[in-house]
Amino acid sequence: MPQFSAHAPGKIILFGEHAVVHGQPAIAVPITQVRVTATVTPDIRGKAGTVRIQALDVDLDARLDELDRDHPLAAAVEGVAATLGISRIPACTLRVTSTIPVASGLGSGAAVSVAVVRALAGFLGQPLADEQVSAIAFEIEKIHHGTPSGIDNTVVTYAQPVYFIKKSAAARAQPRGAALIETFTIAKPFTIVVGDTGIASPTRQTVGDVRAGWGADPGHYETLFAAVGSLTKSARQAIESGHPQRLGPLMDENHALLGEMGVSSPELDHLVSAAREAGALGAKLSGGGRGGNMIALAPPEQADQIASALRSSGAARTIVARIER
Ligand code: MEV
Repeated sequence: MPQFSAHAPGKIILFGEHAVVHGQPAIAVPITQVRVTATVTPDIRGKAGTVRIQALDVDLDARLDELDRDHPLAAAVEGVAATLGISRIPACTLRVTSTIPVASGLGSGAAVSVAVVRALAGFLGQPLADEQVSAIAFEIEKIHHGTPSGIDNTVVTYAQPVYFIKKSAAARAQPRGAALIETFTIAKPFTIVVGDTGIASPTRQTVGDVRAGWGADPGHYETLFAAVGSLTKSARQAIESGHPQRLGPLMDENHALLGEMGVSSPELDHLVSAAREAGALGAKLSGGGRGGNMIALAPPEQADQIASALRSSGAARTIVARIER
């Protein structure tokens, strides 16, 4: 069996994070400037079933049987083996490298899962369909996030802009999957500047806190979720009709609603204001919040200036991304 490699991109949520966990639509797009690479190499002299896992970015170099069963990398390997009905994987080494910052809202966990699942299935000579890759990655998202919507594994697997609605528990029991996933047209490309607060913020925590807030005051939170849902629908219309400049005010409103949900932070608010002052048409946090990344809609000729203003205001790094399809 020859060596096999696979890549997976990062992602940003343009609209609808958190509300999507509670049944509202969200829009996410892949970000190809950052990515995960997974490579599986055969160990010709190794004993069948011995899988060595190296993720040196996170100081991991271990055998599969030394990892906890709910370690995300162990779960990815086991997920592939179970899906393919393979009880003993030929001896191999799985190497994972990533340029996606961890716990920053850019989909690092989902990208690791997708790249590893594709690399291992490819190495075993049985590539999986996107739907199967996404389903395995979703199970691993539950380890990362507790109660994920499924949007991260979906956008990273399909590597296309997605409009995503999680189905209710009852509807999930139906055969046609756990979510309504629609790809849609980006009639006119637009430019997004991503600014990283440099503060790691695990999504599990913020998703849990929003759930707790909803439990304590369901009426208020449902009003917030519905307001985000209606912004997301307007955003899709703006993107499909070729008026991306209309996204700016919608982003500002989405950021305010996320603040009311309790998932913004002084650092995110500071970068959002800095982006607007530097000429952004609108800005918001993106992903789980409390840290991680914010995004700003930039007139293309001002993108570099906005990125530089973000770095001067404390952003650990910035990415300028053209969103198109
Ligand atoms: C994380 O990228 C987006 C959240 O809405 C969580 C989820 O949808 O699983 C915060």
